[in-house]
Amino acid sequence: MNNYMQRLGLTAWRKKTTILVASGFLSLIIFGLQFSRLEDNSNLSAILKDEKDAEVVAAALAKSINNVRFIESSNKNKVSVTELDDEVLNDITIKREAKSEKQTENVQMEQQLGIPYVNLDPKNPYIPKTRIVHLDFKGAPPVISYLKKFFPLIKQMGATGVLLEYEDMFPFSGFLKNISAKNAYSVDNIKEILSLAESSQLDVIPLVQTFGHVEFALKHAEFAYLREVSNSPQALCPSRKSSLDFITELINQVMALHPKVKYLHIGCDEVFQMGECDLCRLEIHENLFLKHIKNVVDIVRIKYPSIKIIVWDDMLRHISQQSMLDAKIGELVEPMVWVYAEDIYRFVQPTIWEKYAAVFKTAWSASAFKGAFGETLYIPSARRHLENTLRWLDTMAAQSSAFKHGLSGITITGWQRYDHFAVLCELLPAAIPSLALSLLAATHGYFNSSLKEKFLKALSCPEPSIDSSPFIMLESDPFLWEKLSRCTFPGSPVFRLTSRLRNIELEAKEFLDVTLKQKGWMTAYNVRYNYSLALRVEELTLDLPRLYHGMISLARATVDAMDDIFDNYTISEWIEQRIYPYLIEFEKIENDSVVLKSVNHWPSRPLPVSPKMQKLALSIGLH
Ligand SMILES: *[C@@H]1O[C@H](CO)[C@@H](O)[C@H](O)[C@H]1NC(C)=O
Ligand SMILES: *[C@@H]1O[C@H](CO)[C@@H](O)[C@H](O)[C@H]1NC(C)=O
Ligand SMILES: *[C@@H]1O[C@H](CO)[C@@H](O)[C@H](O)[C@H]1NC(C)=O
Ligand SMILES: *[C@@H]1O[C@H](CO)[C@@H](O)[C@H](O)[C@H]1NC(C)=O
Ligand SMILES: *[C@@H]1O[C@H](CO)[C@@H](O)[C@H](O)[C@H]1NC(C)=O
Repeated sequence: MNNYMQRLGLTAWRKKTTILVASGFLSLIIFGLQFSRLEDNSNLSAILKDEKDAEVVAAALAKSINNVRFIESSNKNKVSVTELDDEVLNDITIKREAKSEKQTENVQMEQQLGIPYVNLDPKNPYIPKTRIVHLDFKGAPPVISYLKKFFPLIKQMGATGVLLEYEDMFPFSGFLKNISAKNAYSVDNIKEILSLAESSQLDVIPLVQTFGHVEFALKHAEFAYLREVSNSPQALCPSRKSSLDFITELINQVMALHPKVKYLHIGCDEVFQMGECDLCRLEIHENLFLKHIKNVVDIVRIKYPSIKIIVWDDMLRHISQQSMLDAKIGELVEPMVWVYAEDIYRFVQPTIWEKYAAVFKTAWSASAFKGAFGETLYIPSARRHLENTLRWLDTMAAQSSAFKHGLSGITITGWQRYDHFAVLCELLPAAIPSLALSLLAATHGYFNSSLKEKFLKALSCPEPSIDSSPFIMLESDPFLWEKLSRCTFPGSPVFRLTSRLRNIELEAKEFLDVTLKQKGWMTAYNVRYNYSLALRVEELTLDLPRLYHGMISLARATVDAMDDIFDNYTISEWIEQRIYPYLIEFEKIENDSVVLKSVNHWPSRPLPVSPKMQKLALSIGLH
């Protein structure tokens, strides 16, 4: 997601990642368990120039006001310190030394926090007008009781709203019924979510995919006729009336359940297939895209004339200013400019910003707190995501004035999967610390140690002891596992669980590498030919039972930690993707070791060449 082209390639891959049917063994675990239960740390001189220091000097100077006046009148503006009386001079020097020692300490302290340096204006922090947290429900919806704790938490940290991406978790009805996942929210659930958001004074912006990323619908045989390309469910064909009827129904059903919203997000990112079907081939890409936006906006405005409409900006990056002006797209939608990698301008260059400012009266930005640095991660780097958000603040500060109405706000996105077919990436509860850093930064326009209390309080962390080291150390502890290990924010057991997973995973990977690759008695060759030594095999598998039971116990802990956050399906899926593969590998090693140890007589060398190898041998000219 951090790289558009990269994702383009990856998306094609991801299609194959369909999930295997969970084995009876796995469901045994899951269901059986139901019963047991610094922006200004750059240089010292800048800090010495700060107001407080100036105050010290000013106070001292005030004492010698007579001398100064005399000097001033005789010597214009040149105030020479040597001409101040000794007492005052000493006073200044002592205070200055004390001050600068303290400043040095402060700077060192701030540097230890490891907050990525972004050149923000310390005197005039840019604070986005609105701060929206994105909730990606895509196939892994948190239970309502978790959202009930989550909304007040983000409100406390300065969020003003939520962007709800339902995908297949919305209770569609009528001819769209089959699009909904079987564990989708119910109508009552949606009402409850909206009322909970309202109690926390959070605005709600629903997101409906209307062009690309409609694989959750077009994957079904009954909606395949809407595809742009018949063998890909990713994008719909914008040129057919049936597509517009389909979108009308999607939008009307979602809007009917969101009667009070002021904004609707219509997606439109990453439309990888465009202009490929017989109807679309005749039209140029730019026009296809702009025309479709107009069609979707018209659909929304028939029933909801005053709603404001947001689109992701990536498809607009390549469209010319003139085409956008001709299509009057600035009067139809507000772009949400997304970049989740650290370097914003690398993806949206100044020329693109100029174009946007010429076309649109306002725009939004989107950073990320999770789901941007790898499809199979389970914990986000809080440091990298904070840097992304801080750099957005810098970018917004610079670009805001170019837009007639300024910028409308920032959305801090939290992706749950890279697309409908991808496996789960970082889960929401594991990413709360990362969200806290980015959200507090967006709310204050900076992040430094002056936000320590707010940060620790929001995450329900125990009072740090007086002599304690810095409250965060993002360089050495980018996931915050160490510093936040005792906090009790909603979902903290899942956050801690990821640390346990990481430790056991490191051990398991090392074990697998040593046993199957580094050592010479249990490699694939040994197993294929039943050719090994019982004593060696015994030695190599000594740690196996401990590791196996460690994984089983982690799976159990997962069920406990996630029980009040996700439904059984999401919990099973996560265990199957993160823990189960190790159990399978361990089981295979166990099986192989039993066979290898049971052999008591071996054939003479050379061992017969396996048929597959024989074929290869012939084709490479080995006879
Ligand atoms: C944190 O940053 C803000 C805004 O730039 C500044 O006013 C404040 O003095 C900084 N605090 C520390 C401890 O550096
Ligand atoms: C949904 O799927 C079921 C089962 O595949 C099918 O019988 C039905 O016609 C589909 N359409 C609707 C609108 O329910
Ligand atoms: C999960 O499964 C258990 C037992 O099968 C059931 O009692 C429980 O209600 C399920 N929980 C959810 C959230 O579906
Ligand atoms: C290990 O052996 C058992 C018993 O024969 C079998 O059921 C299981 O599928 C095997 N596991 C693997 C991973 O090969
Ligand atoms: C390995 O040896 C065992 C015990 O003699 C035998 O049962 C098994 O079939 C052998 N496997 C292979 C792949 O030769």
